[in-house]
Amino acid sequence: MKTPICERLGCDVPIFAFSHCRDVVVEITRAGGFGVLGAGTHSPQQLQQELKWIDEHVDGKPYGIDVLIPSKYDKEADARTEQLEDIVPAEQKEFLQKFLRDEKVPELPPDEARAVREERAAKERNHGPAGSRRLIDVALRHPQVKLVVNALGAPPKEIVDELHGRGLLVGALCGKPAHAAAQRDAGVDILIAQGTEAGGHTGEISTLVLVPQIVDAAGPGIAVLAAGGISRGRQILAAFALGAQGVWCGTIWLGTRESELTPLEKQVLFNARTEDAVRRKWMTGKSVRMIRSKTSEVWEQPGAPKHLLPPLQNALYHAARVRIEKAGRADLVSMPAGQVVGLMNEETSVRQIVMNMMTEYVETAERLSPLVNLSQEG
Ligand SMILES: Cc1cc2nc3c(=O)[nH]c(=O)nc-3n(C[C@H](O)[C@H](O)[C@H](O)COP(=O)(O)O)c2cc1C
Repeated sequence: MKTPICERLGCDVPIFAFSHCRDVVVEITRAGGFGVLGAGTHSPQQLQQELKWIDEHVDGKPYGIDVLIPSKYDKEADARTEQLEDIVPAEQKEFLQKFLRDEKVPELPPDEARAVREERAAKERNHGPAGSRRLIDVALRHPQVKLVVNALGAPPKEIVDELHGRGLLVGALCGKPAHAAAQRDAGVDILIAQGTEAGGHTGEISTLVLVPQIVDAAGPGIAVLAAGGISRGRQILAAFALGAQGVWCGTIWLGTRESELTPLEKQVLFNARTEDAVRRKWMTGKSVRMIRSKTSEVWEQPGAPKHLLPPLQNALYHAARVRIEKAGRADLVSMPAGQVVGLMNEETSVRQIVMNMMTEYVETAERLSPLVNLSQEG
């Protein structure tokens, strides 16, 4: 299963795991894959602690971080110094408040509300160029970080050049061929062709259609990883057939014991069917594939206010999330997850998933070998 990107990054198998949970990053890396920590939800101080912990647990192996530099966001809101929650327009704020009141979701007690606000204040400016820059500076203090990936657009060229100068590789997610051209021009080394099936921010083109287009657009020297809907060994083989050098998975790790999802969120995850993973703007103002709930759907109804741009819509989402969690309301939980959610029914472990992927990969390769062994013909 070793492909050239394994040599370049120093991992055994080209199974990349995106996760916000440090334990997932460590486990996948120790299992021979490549863990990438989603850093956009951390403050620089938290990221420093997480990377220190990862360094201590990955046996000297390399890993990566992922930042969020969106090409479209509310620059004015991002530049203001007040807490984002305080500058969300009244229309959207009142709409959400009324919905939570109608659903009888209690307010948090004042001291808890204050603690949650403080925690959010530390984290909320880490999307956008300035916040991501701070996170990258933290990552650069950890030599085992060998890859920086940007979601939501081409990373600025000066950041790419600087990371290259420090010996790191740079990746970017892309959901359509036009993105690939911009990212190639920015100098990225790895393009993550993420199909619409994926959890999180996602476009409209399916993985099967997207990957070969990105492979063709990338040209030589740029490795393509297939993402979106991948959780099985036979899909890894399919990704190779499409020209990818590896796979990049996110949703499948959410149901592991290493994942930090709350018990309520895991319950929602295991109950969800593939068709419950829908694209909605409720979480960030951009299309995110997430599990459908009453909360995501109320924003789709006629008369609902328009979604705000990041980072303001994110502020609304986070304000509601803690209250919903505390109220134990599974019917209101909408968290990012891709279509593979329909295959996830019980808690497992990162290592078990990797083993299953590799076993199924080998079985599939053997099953297909008569089909592709041309020398047997005639
Ligand atoms: C819960 C969740 C959060 C995500 N957050 C991010 C993120 O912050 N940055 C990013 O580059 N991708 C993010 N993604 C997308 C993943 O990087 C990955 O491309 C996607 O999960 C792959 O498709 P899959 O979900 O079908 O495995 C997220 C995915 C999930 C499931």
